[in-house]
This record gives sequence, C-alpha cells and structure tokens, in this order.
Amino acid sequence: MSDHYLKKLFGLEGKSVLVTGATGQLGHEFCSAFLSAGAKVIGADKDLNREKMITSDRCRYLTLDIADKGSVEKVFDDIYSSGELDILINNAGVSCFEPFEERPEPSFDWVMNVNLKGTFFCIQEYARRSKRNSGPKSVVNIASVYGLISPDFRIYTDTERHNSEVYGATKAGIIQMTRYFAVHLASRHIRVNSISPGGIYNPEAPQGEEFISLYSERNPMGRMAEAGEMVGAALYLASPAASYTTGHNLVVDGGMTSW
Ligand SMILES: NC(=O)c1ccc[n+]([C@@H]2O[C@H](COP(=O)([O-])OP(=O)(O)OC[C@H]3O[C@@H](n4cnc5c(N)ncnc54)[C@H](O)[C@@H]3O)[C@@H](O)[C@H]2O)c1
Repeated sequence: MSDHYLKKLFGLEGKSVLVTGATGQLGHEFCSAFLSAGAKVIGADKDLNREKMITSDRCRYLTLDIADKGSVEKVFDDIYSSGELDILINNAGVSCFEPFEERPEPSFDWVMNVNLKGTFFCIQEYARRSKRNSGPKSVVNIASVYGLISPDFRIYTDTERHNSEVYGATKAGIIQMTRYFAVHLASRHIRVNSISPGGIYNPEAPQGEEFISLYSERNPMGRMAEAGEMVGAALYLASPAASYTTGHNLVVDGGMTSW
C-alpha cells in the first residue's frame, strides 16, 4: 500500500482541530495524535494543565468552560478570527462519585451542564459558524460504554469512584445528540459521530487494584483500555476514510458491551 493511498484515505494534514478537555488523560492523547497526523491543533480546557500542554508551532491552547455559553462564544470568536475549524472533538467531560442516595442537586446539575449542555454549546457554535462551501467537516463526541450499559457495581470494591446514573444518562444523551446532529447537519457537509470508550487505565491516578482486576475479568479482552487505544477511532472518524459515516457510535471497549 502506498503512502499516497493512505494519505488520501486518512489525510488530516493542514486540517484545524479543536479538542476540548485537551489537557486531560484522553484529550492529551487526541492533541498528540492529530498533531502527528499533520493537523493544526487548538487545545481547550477549563483547567489547563501545563504538564500536558504540547509545544509545537501547530498547537495552541485556550481556556474554555464548555458549560458557559459566553466562554464557548469567546473561544469560537478567537478561533474563527484566524480561519475556519475543520474538526471538533467534544472530549471534555466530568462525573460525580457519591452514592446516588447522597447526590446533592448541584452535583447532578454540574455533570448535566458540562457533559450534555457543554457538548451542545460547542456543536451549536461550530454549526453556526461553519460555512457551507468550505469543505467537509467532522464532529466527534466522546460518549462512554456507560451510555449503553449500566456499570456492574460488584466490581467497585476498592474505588471511591462509583459510576453515577447522571454520568451514564449524559453519555446516552450524547449518543442520541450525535444522531440528531448527524441528520440536521448532513446537508451542510458536517458529519457527526461518537466514540464510546470502555474503562481506561490511568497510570497517573490508578484505579484500585481490585477494581482493575475485577473489571479485567468482566472484559472479553481481559484488561482495561490504554488511552492511546482511542486515537485510531478519532482519527478515522475525522478523516476522509469516514466520508460516508455519520450518526455512528463507535464502541471501543475490548468487547465489554458484546458480552
Ligand atoms: N477515562 C475513562 O475511563 C473514560 C471512559 C469512557 C469515556 N470517557 C470520557 O472521555 C472524556 C475524557 O475523559 P478523561 O478520562 O480524559 O478525563 P480527564 O478528567 O482526565 O479529562 C477531562 C478534561 O476535561 C476538562 N474539563 C472538565 N470540565 C470542563 C469544562 N466545563 N470545560 C472544559 N473542559 C473541562 C478537565 O479539566 C480535564 O482536563 C470524557 O468525556 C469522559 O467522560 C472516559
């Protein structure tokens, strides 16, 4: 297979990409992957973590709170003052971890506002500003397997990070919003897809040992994901190789939801 063929299929050279939640575990991987693919990356995050910021003349960072409409508008003003955005990766997301009986209302609202409303604000701003004749465009929303299945609470033995109902509900909402916008934006040449990752091992803040072991037992591939295993799906969905793919939810979970 020639390099030329692969470039035509997966080429992202010169494309401009906005990654939200850019200095988190997955966001950092996405920024790094799109840079390696030759794209121009704008990384945006509410709390920019200097240690996860990549130094490159094709990468810059902006402070963005996706749950704040004014902040989203300001960041899009900044980006569009110097050109169009080709690809939007809606990756920023949060969760709360108290037992559901003790969940305070602000905690529930926070997850809803960031995950669901924040993703909506970014798509809204992107769609509003994208010119119809400026080439194909792509949105990739980061959902979760917990938007498809419920967590198995028997495996949360040595971790405080219990998965919440509101997290799963927002991720299910993101999968549905993906279909909605795939339909509504198709005529504007904007494809909209989502990725549903399974549990990702975090070497910098490892989940409990027993949790990792029980999760791995529950997973057909016998392990948690590595963050880098999500980038192929994002590069594919953003690239010309996926030119007829829209409204799809690509599950990357080691077979977890197939079992
Ligand atoms: N880690 C996993 O196991 C896993 C599994 C499935 C899905 N996901 C999803 O992947 C995405 C990335 O998760 P991660 O594991 O890298 O988490 P993370 O906490 O490492 O990164 C999330 C980033 O989003 C930023 N952020 C939070 N609120 C924000 C806001 N209002 N505006 C802008 N940025 C904000 C944070 O500062 C952080 O840098 C999330 O949507 C998450 O739900 C993660």
